[in-house]
Amino acid sequence: MNNLLFGCFLIKANLMKEIILQSKVKVCSYEELSAEDRKLVDAARKATANSYAVYSGFNVGAAVRLCDGTMVCGTNQENAAYPSGLCAERTTIFWANSQYPDKAVKALAIAACTKEGELAKPITPCGACRQVILETEKRFNTPIRIILYGTEECYIIEDGIKPLLPLCFDSEVLE
Ligand code: THU
Repeated sequence: MNNLLFGCFLIKANLMKEIILQSKVKVCSYEELSAEDRKLVDAARKATANSYAVYSGFNVGAAVRLCDGTMVCGTNQENAAYPSGLCAERTTIFWANSQYPDKAVKALAIAACTKEGELAKPITPCGACRQVILETEKRFNTPIRIILYGTEECYIIEDGIKPLLPLCFDSEVLE
């Protein structure tokens, strides 16, 4: 009996599969960015000055470019009740979508600084912001180009948030 059971486990183990999830992220210097990307990154960098980050001291700026070229910036907004604050990415996307509900978001740039200055490595969006970026892509049926700024290197995710959100919860399952 034991042997049989053992055999059973073995068979199951052999059937187990693995899937490898891969993400393509381009790495480049600030100087290597296209003029259009640099403009959006510069807007995000400039926006960090308006961040309200009195608790973390981590000032984040974001900028989105809409389908007609309009640029909208935003920053993180903190609160003494910590979860009531909001990241720069979501502040910016929600503001853009509230002001221009019919204009697709085409690109998003993110930058951050502390009292020591700008970060050497790119700042990457948190999980909740990634989910909101996904929703925005779905809403406008348009992938969002994402440019993450660091003084030493920048990351570009060219064709939408999916590489940063593997196995994401997709609204299609609700249909
Ligand atoms: N924050 C952002 O605004 N964006 C990110 O991608 C990560 C974190 C903010 C939230 C909080 O105000 C501060 O940075 C520290 O976590």
